[in-house]
Amino acid sequence: MPKTPNGFIKQLNNRKKQLTVLYEISKQLASTIDFSASIHSSLKLLATYLDIQRTALFVFEPATKEFVIHYAYGFTHEERQKGRYKLGEGITGKVGKSGVPIVLPDVQDEPMFMNKTGKELKKDNLSYIAVPVKIDRKVVAVLSAQKLLTEDSSFEEDVNLLSMIATLIGQAMILNQRIEKQRQDMEHEKSVLIKELKSKYRPENIIGISPGIEEVFEIIDRVSPTKATVLLRGESGTGKELVARAIHFHSPRAGKPFVKMNCAALPDTLLESELFGHEKGAFTGAFEAKKGRFELANEGTIFLDEIGEISLSTQAKLLRVIQEKRFERLGGNKTIEVDVRIIAATNSDLEKGIKDRVFREDLYYRLNVVPIFMPALRERKEDVPLLVEHFLTRFNKEHGKSLKLSGHAMEFMINYNWPGNVRELENMIERTVIMTKGSVIDVTDIPLPVVSGETEKITAALPQQAIFEHYKLDSVIEDMEKSRIIDALKKTGGVKAKAARMLGITQRQLGYKILKYRIEIEVDAAVRTVDRE
Ligand SMILES: Nc1ncnc2c1ncn2[C@@H]1O[C@H](COP(=O)(O)OP(=O)(O)O)[C@@H](O)[C@H]1O
Ligand SMILES: [Mg+2]
Repeated sequence: MPKTPNGFIKQLNNRKKQLTVLYEISKQLASTIDFSASIHSSLKLLATYLDIQRTALFVFEPATKEFVIHYAYGFTHEERQKGRYKLGEGITGKVGKSGVPIVLPDVQDEPMFMNKTGKELKKDNLSYIAVPVKIDRKVVAVLSAQKLLTEDSSFEEDVNLLSMIATLIGQAMILNQRIEKQRQDMEHEKSVLIKELKSKYRPENIIGISPGIEEVFEIIDRVSPTKATVLLRGESGTGKELVARAIHFHSPRAGKPFVKMNCAALPDTLLESELFGHEKGAFTGAFEAKKGRFELANEGTIFLDEIGEISLSTQAKLLRVIQEKRFERLGGNKTIEVDVRIIAATNSDLEKGIKDRVFREDLYYRLNVVPIFMPALRERKEDVPLLVEHFLTRFNKEHGKSLKLSGHAMEFMINYNWPGNVRELENMIERTVIMTKGSVIDVTDIPLPVVSGETEKITAALPQQAIFEHYKLDSVIEDMEKSRIIDALKKTGGVKAKAARMLGITQRQLGYKILKYRIEIEVDAAVRTVDRE
């Protein structure tokens, strides 16, 4: 305790400084959730108020069991890099291990002082203080300070003050850990949700990994939540209807009806009556009033398949429904309003239809808000094995079988050009599963041609070997057999017994084959001999 009034004032001043720095630091640590920034400014405050030359926070890293400088004031970059101590090593390591503060009144006298950071110290008047930062009684960091010795230095006060600051830092670290944990939890939750969303919006019944199909998935994902009209283009059997359903069932309208209309199937009047309904007596045979599909699809989705086939007069009516969302039943004058999402599909060249004036351009633009092009199966062969497996599993189950596919058969499937696309593949697998007797489907088990009139394309798509195996094997053998029999008969002058012996078969077998191949033996001596036998 200072005895002089001067000393007393100094002490008061010191106290004031200490309180101020405590207050400022606690404010700093409490005011921001940016932990790193608040520790930095706390160390800076500490240094400037208390004549501390250098101060650092060594944080325990469990992986290496070292206390490493994470935050520092008054250190150069290189010095900070070197600042790491093992448990029990140097002053920092000792404080870290024991959890008790250490004060070196004068580092010069201290063999324990390692000064790894290599700063040239004015050794004669520098003190070193290190206090532990604890969470749940475990040392998680060490706060150190190097202070110039002055005549009124009180190590006790310095240690007390630094210990209080260490407590504040400890609390801030707990808070930061919680925030960090929460952030990580949220990140995790977010990634789980995103994954879920992705798998949810990836229609599970649409098989494919090709870029072409991926693109389709992406569009489905984007248009499903909206009410936008979608126009599906692509060859028959590419999955247009499948996609239309996927869009509906992933849309907010999923709980409402999905109504399909094949526009190519009916003549004009019937089609219009199907679409818009009719009143009783609207036309011959309209004995009852009937709701049209637009009415049935209210609040849901209508799928207009083969839209390219409708007549100009039906196109005009359709255009009105799209534009005004209202229509009248055939033979009726009451206007009906509906809220229906439209998805149309076509395999025909609408653009050519416009040029040829069989398709209205305005209707085209109304329908073509979001076009989706379904790639032909032959343009995405990488999907074939997946589809084959998919349908094989399905039809095995349906028909109580457990057939496998040979490598050759798969090769054939991949090489085939699938004019009927996925529908053809689906049918082919079902027929094959039904027809195959063994346990493995081989090329020869595949029924061909699957689509009538497509034989040429099929042959073109077959690998050479498969063509041989599938088409030619039997006939090649027959051709060979026939020509060898003829040859033998010629050589033996038509004597069946000799010819049979030469061929290694019985006379009876030879006789049967002569009949089978309709071998006509020329009328001469030799034949007669044959005939007499
Ligand atoms: N990517 C696919 N994954 C699984 N099945 C498909 C796929 N594409 C089409 N199909 C199936 O092929 C058949 C024909 O599909 P569909 O949607 O009717 O074609 P489109 O309307 O283009 O003629 C349907 O049985 C459908 O389930
Ligand atoms: Mg279809």
